[in-house]
Amino acid sequence: MSLKSVVEKYKNFISLPNHTFKRLTNKVVVQVSRTVASETAYGIPSHLMMEISSACQLRCPLCPIGNDTFARTSELMAFDIYKKVVDEIGDYVYRINLNGMGEPTLNHQILDMIKYAKDKGIYVDLYTNFQLEKMSMIEGLIDAGLDSILIAMDGASKENYEEYRVGGKFEAIVSNVKHLVAARKKLGGKLPEINIQFIPLNHNKDDLDKMSDLVRSLGADNLFVKRPFLFRGTGDVEKDHEFIQTDESEDDGYNLYKVDENGASWQLKTKNVCDYLWTSTVVLADGSVSPCCFDYDGTVIFGNVAEDKFQDIWNNNSYKKFRQRNKKDWKSIPLCSQDFEGGCPHMYVQASDWLVKLGS
Ligand SMILES: C[S@@+](CC[C@H](N)C(=O)[O-])C[C@H]1O[C@@H](n2cnc3c(N)ncnc32)[C@H](O)[C@@H]1O
Ligand code: SF4
Ligand code: SF4
Repeated sequence: MSLKSVVEKYKNFISLPNHTFKRLTNKVVVQVSRTVASETAYGIPSHLMMEISSACQLRCPLCPIGNDTFARTSELMAFDIYKKVVDEIGDYVYRINLNGMGEPTLNHQILDMIKYAKDKGIYVDLYTNFQLEKMSMIEGLIDAGLDSILIAMDGASKENYEEYRVGGKFEAIVSNVKHLVAARKKLGGKLPEINIQFIPLNHNKDDLDKMSDLVRSLGADNLFVKRPFLFRGTGDVEKDHEFIQTDESEDDGYNLYKVDENGASWQLKTKNVCDYLWTSTVVLADGSVSPCCFDYDGTVIFGNVAEDKFQDIWNNNSYKKFRQRNKKDWKSIPLCSQDFEGGCPHMYVQASDWLVKLGS
């Protein structure tokens, strides 16, 4: 990690609005535990992902939900499950992200869920396709106190946007972003921070400059460029590879894969361990606890918060064994090595952040 990124990382952490003694001391314990990569994870994960919906109305071709290779059922998390986790560990958690797989805005209790976490002083954010059924949800998200929203807009034109966000409408996302910007202004606050995410794929990569203009004209706060990954593929390797840039002469730094006759592989150094196993966790829509949001099918489940306390699951034998195995030989774990073409992106040292922030 470069000095610049260390300074940036701590600057971001220090500027968090919700420090308390409990959160801060817990965070120190978590970081020490992560540094020594202990089998027992001391402290409570400071970052919690709550998959409030594993359903989605879109069909993005590389996403397991979009290409129908998703093996779990599509469901919405019950409020009781959400509340149970927030009640148990919310005092220690800095941030809740309302994602796993799926589209969080489909959960009709999303506004209550945001409010509940905000009342406990937790920073709440979400990633969304922002194809909303009801415009009234926009004011609701602001009223509920959402801190930040990352809106997936992979194209500056109808044609390019709709090629990846299959089933989504370009007009709808543009109008929803405009409405959100206007409503935030009308309500007089600064939150949520409105971030637009653009994933440069082969068909839309030339839209990057236009995206900056579009984001500026819509009045959103930032444009993030996210490096694409292939998830585990659709089964049609050639079709999958068509989405990612393979011509090195055109390399703009946003594609970190190399594709040759052996398939796609990352052109990056590997990490020793996966830090998520100490710093973060995912509660899937049915309450199952999984190590990360890359466990699409829920193949590595350590327990269920509907039955057990989160803290009993966090350091049970299966979680501990998984940490040890990841540390010893992560490539032997199917989830970390085979569920992604080229291996899990999180096990590679990225050139810089996954999300490159461009001024809007
Ligand atoms: C599975 S989605 C769930 C959230 C929401 N449905 C969405 O699409 O924004 C999690 C994140 O992965 C992003 N994503 C989708 N396809 C991707 C790809 N091929 N490479 C990298 N990220 C991708 C989404 O935009 C989102 O930020
Ligand atoms: S909108 Fe999100 S969850 Fe839905 S198919 Fe696309 S990437 Fe997957
Ligand atoms: S799949 Fe990736 S993020 Fe998940 S536990 Fe394995 S290395 Fe970590």
